[in-house]
Amino acid sequence: MSELTSLALPHVAQLHAYTPGLQPSASGWVKLNTNECPYPPSPCVVAALQREIGGNGASLRLYPNPTSAPLRATVARLHGLRPEQVCIGNGSDDILNLLVRAFCSADAALSYVMPSYSLYPVLVEIQDGRCAVIELDRTMRLPLDRIAASTARAFFLTSPNAPTGVAFSNAEIAAAANAFRGLFVVDEAYAPFARENAVPLLASNPRLVVVRTLSKAYALAGLRVGYALAHPEVIDVLDRVRDSYNVNRLSQVAAIAALEAEPYYAEVIARIVATRDQFQRELGARGWFTYPSQSNFVFTEPRNARGESGPAVAKALYDFLYAHQVLVRYFPSHALTAPFLRISVGTDAEMRVLNQTIDAWLKAPNA
Ligand SMILES: Cc1ncc(COP(=O)(O)O)c(C=O)c1O
Repeated sequence: MSELTSLALPHVAQLHAYTPGLQPSASGWVKLNTNECPYPPSPCVVAALQREIGGNGASLRLYPNPTSAPLRATVARLHGLRPEQVCIGNGSDDILNLLVRAFCSADAALSYVMPSYSLYPVLVEIQDGRCAVIELDRTMRLPLDRIAASTARAFFLTSPNAPTGVAFSNAEIAAAANAFRGLFVVDEAYAPFARENAVPLLASNPRLVVVRTLSKAYALAGLRVGYALAHPEVIDVLDRVRDSYNVNRLSQVAAIAALEAEPYYAEVIARIVATRDQFQRELGARGWFTYPSQSNFVFTEPRNARGESGPAVAKALYDFLYAHQVLVRYFPSHALTAPFLRISVGTDAEMRVLNQTIDAWLKAPNA
C-alpha cells in the first residue's frame, strides 16, 4: 500500500470499490449490460430541460431547490402519499447510501440476501459497518424464517431481484417486513416492469421503505434521480444526512416532466415487457434455463452446442458476444450467478442482433 493510501482510514484504504458495468465510449455496441432504457425519454423531458436552460443558461447560476420540493410533491401525488413521505436522491444509489449512513454501523448490521444488488456491501464497507448476509439457494425463494430471526438494524430486499429478475410477492414482502424488527427497505428499481409493487404496504408498516429510480423505466440514468417513500420520521432522518443540494436543477425539472408523462412511459414499459417475454420464450426454445423475469433484464443459463452449461460456458458466450460488440453482464464471483448471464432488454432490433450472435456462437468451432 502506498504511503498516500495509508493516510486514509484503514477500512477505506482496504476498500474494494463497486464495479459498474462497462460504458463504452465508441459507437457500434449493442449495449445490454446495465439495464438502461433502450428508448429515449419523453419529449416533454427534453422540452423541460430546454425551458430550464433558457437562452443563456442564467438559471444555472443559482443553486437548486435544496429539498427538491416540487419534485417531492409530484412523487407524492403519483403514489397517493404526502410530500413528507418522500426524499429525493441523486440516483437511488444516493438514497441507499443515505440509508446505510443513517442506520448502519459496526454495531448495527445491514442484512440482505445473496445474490442481490452488489452495491450494498460496498456502501456498508464505506461506513466501516457490518453485513449479515442471508444466502439464497437456486430456487431464489425468500427465506422468511431467517429474515424473521435476523437481529440486523436494516434489511435491503431487491424486488424484482437483481441479477435474477425474480420478484417477491407483496404477501411475502409483508410477511418478511412484519417479522423483521428493524428498518425493511424494498429496492424497487425494476418495479415498473413487475406485476406488483410494495407501495400499498407502506400504510400498514411504518418501518417499511420503498426505493425507486428514474434510471430504468423513465430513461433518465444520465440525470441521476431516485427517491425513497417512507414514514415522515424516516424521511426526516434521511434529510439530516443528505447533502444539502443533492439533486441538481436540470435533474429536478426533468424528473417532474417524466413523472407527469404517464401515457408515454406506459407505452415504453409495455414495449419492453413484450420484448422481454418474447426473448424469454426464445431462450426457452433453446432449452436454456431462465428465471421468470419481472424486470427489464433476463438472467439465463447458456448451453453450448454440446448441451453443456456452467461458469466456463457462460464466460465463453460472454467473451464471444463481447468480441462481436454485444455487451451483456457476467457475475463470476458467486456460485449461483457464475453459470448465468444477465441480459438487459433492448429494442427488438438489438435483440435480433443478440440472437443472431448467439446462433453464430453455437455454430462456432469452439462453442
Ligand atoms: C437493484 C438496483 N438498485 C438501484 C440501482 C441504482 O439505480 P440509480 O441509477 O438510481 O442509482 C440499480 C442500478 O442498476 C439496481 O440494479
